[in-house]
Amino acid sequence: MDTAEIRRRFVAHFEADGHTVVPSASLLLDDPTLLFVNAGMVPFKPYFLGQERPPYPRAVSVQKCVRTLDIEEVGKTTRHGTFFQMCGNFSFGDYFKPGAIDLAWRLVTGSQESGGLGFDGDKIWVTVLEGDDEAIDLWHSVAGLPHQRIQRRGLLDNYWHMGVPGPGGPCSEIYVDRGPAFGPEGGPIVDEDRFLEIWNLVFMQLYQHPDGTRTELPAQNIDTGSGLERVAAVQQGKRSVFETDIFLPVLEAAAAAAGVDYFGTTATTEQAYAVRAMAEHCRAATLLIGDGVVPSNEGRGYVLRRVIRRAVYFARKIGVREPFTTRLADAAIDKLKGAYPHLEENRDFIRRALQAEEERFLRTITAGSARLEALLVLQKAARRLTRGTQGREHDQPVPGLECFDTTADGRQWLDTLGEDFADVDALKFDGGWLHGTSRGMGRVGAFRMVVPRRDRRWGLQCTSSRAGR
Ligand code: GLY
Repeated sequence: MDTAEIRRRFVAHFEADGHTVVPSASLLLDDPTLLFVNAGMVPFKPYFLGQERPPYPRAVSVQKCVRTLDIEEVGKTTRHGTFFQMCGNFSFGDYFKPGAIDLAWRLVTGSQESGGLGFDGDKIWVTVLEGDDEAIDLWHSVAGLPHQRIQRRGLLDNYWHMGVPGPGGPCSEIYVDRGPAFGPEGGPIVDEDRFLEIWNLVFMQLYQHPDGTRTELPAQNIDTGSGLERVAAVQQGKRSVFETDIFLPVLEAAAAAAGVDYFGTTATTEQAYAVRAMAEHCRAATLLIGDGVVPSNEGRGYVLRRVIRRAVYFARKIGVREPFTTRLADAAIDKLKGAYPHLEENRDFIRRALQAEEERFLRTITAGSARLEALLVLQKAARRLTRGTQGREHDQPVPGLECFDTTADGRQWLDTLGEDFADVDALKFDGGWLHGTSRGMGRVGAFRMVVPRRDRRWGLQCTSSRAGR
């Protein structure tokens, strides 16, 4: 079943049950707590909070989403992406747990002939929040799930909230067992690659305040999120979201640009990882520019800049020297224009914005060999530091570097610095040291390093206590 058909079935299932079909909102909603829409519920937030009267009691949508919290995982795993489409059904004080579980179960396991997704009910597992006996009983009675395939988890996994002040609640996640080829037995609490999450049902009933305390919302609501790309991966028997019909042409364009035989036997792990990251980031950038974001040094524009630069960084790591981003954007637009016609209308603008940023970045990283060499050395040193066990390695003669970390987690900052090296700015040579500042993922740090000399060895000094430990 292709992705367009999964989308159609999701919407039709809920429309037939009285849900109003609501088109995807822009990725850029006017919500001061968020840079981008990161979940299907975001456009409905005022209804959950009781700030506005919902014009309908129940709704269904397929919402464009961008999440960059997991950006380091993109390409490494089979399932992470910064851009994804989230199918969801919503109840604004209308039906609650029994309705949500019943509706989800019927769609997931309903036969394909009758309009369902046709998953084998014996392969479905669910998780519920520890103590939510009502959800456990419902999965047992409504869906007939045996108790051994209903697993309990704590607040960290099974309490959904926006990550910022806002509505949330206990949740119940639906997983499909993809079989022993994907990992060990034991359900989602053991392996989330084999047991792939395809749907999250949130029993939305609490408001999370800035200080973390929670109070009741005016009504008991339902908010669900089902990642379209993930459902497609399982439906189509693909190992990763990147190989589904909606993504494959972009992946193939990336592999072609890199000259990597992605599906053959010769691609190295590093090449395959880089190709996936190139594809995902160019696709996400295409959607962001399509909704009006342009690269800049702050806010949304900075996130976009970072996404594009990561694509180029990964490409350079595996030897790509020619511009490639517009070719990948074309492939993404061709696949997504059916659902999002504005992408075709803005194709030229998207291409121009991508090309300009790619060229700018390429100019940056090729400008000045000393600077580039210094940054590459910095990158290598950062890798050694993050790999190093304890202080000892840092005493060995390796490239000179002092790190002054301003974040709580210096180790991670150093790790990302490797990929962010072109974000390093304000470089200045002084007294044999190169001083600079860098930022990545919202973190800001400063460093100084010894400038390379042909006649002497490098000496690493990492004086930051956090970074050095
Ligand atoms: N709002 C539910 C989810 O994003 O999983």
